[in-house]
Amino acid sequence: MAIWNLGSINADMVYAMPHLPAAGETLAALSLDRFLGGKGANMSVAATRAGSGVHHIGAVGPDGAWAIDRLSAYGVGTDHIAQVEVPTGHAIIAVEPEGENQIILFPGANRALSQEQVAEALSQADSGDILVLQNETSMQAEAAQQGRQKGMRVCYAAAPFDADAVQAVLPYLDFLILNEVEAQQLQQATGKEPGELGIKDVIITLGSRGARHIDGVTGTVRDVPALPVKPVDTTGAGDTFTGFVLSGLDLGLNIAEAMEQASCAGALMVTRRGTADVIPTLDEVQAAAF
Ligand code: RIB
Repeated sequence: MAIWNLGSINADMVYAMPHLPAAGETLAALSLDRFLGGKGANMSVAATRAGSGVHHIGAVGPDGAWAIDRLSAYGVGTDHIAQVEVPTGHAIIAVEPEGENQIILFPGANRALSQEQVAEALSQADSGDILVLQNETSMQAEAAQQGRQKGMRVCYAAAPFDADAVQAVLPYLDFLILNEVEAQQLQQATGKEPGELGIKDVIITLGSRGARHIDGVTGTVRDVPALPVKPVDTTGAGDTFTGFVLSGLDLGLNIAEAMEQASCAGALMVTRRGTADVIPTLDEVQAAAF
């Protein structure tokens, strides 16, 4: 099977900061590094490095050929990435010494995908393939609806969180991944617990406490612990977790096995500075001595 990812592509400018800047504060960075990023690109690279075949559906601007080249060099399918007349998305990311971050997003080309582009790409997907979406592109609900109609397994990573955006795709989802705070926000918006949303699989990430799977059919709850590491940069760790979970399922692991592997990948990722370019490979994850 394959994974189809309607996902953002960003240039990430990562500033190491002595602390995260407060409102009105001017603060000099300690260093600047540039990476390929975007929640979508990070997930595509993660799932590819975990062993899956991934087709990325996205858009870059006239300044974005490098991003397509880099995704392609990493083994991601780039046939469905459009070049549009809007600048490539970018993110300004401040990271403090404990690894926490603050991100300013410029969506750019990520919000310029057309319905025709998405429909044409998904017309080549097969029933049983996985479709993953996040909240950094246009055409999320349209893609989710088409994926559901085709019999794809439709997954939504609800980040950056927006209750309206999640509710627009909810009717089409088989799989939802979100964090604890987002789960509470969604519960307030819908009046329902995550396991009552009619979605087969829900994963709630719990930060340093690990991740929880809720089986929406049986109501079974399973917790997978986080691995103890000293974080230097948490950026992209959630995207890495999602990419590895979906790849695990794509390659035949059960949900517990997929989450355990993804948990190792996420733990390794927070010990590295940067985003897509530094996502670990499956070999590195399996060799990590946790
Ligand atoms: O989740 C991390 C990502 O969020 C970064 O790569 C940045 O581009 C933003 O999309």
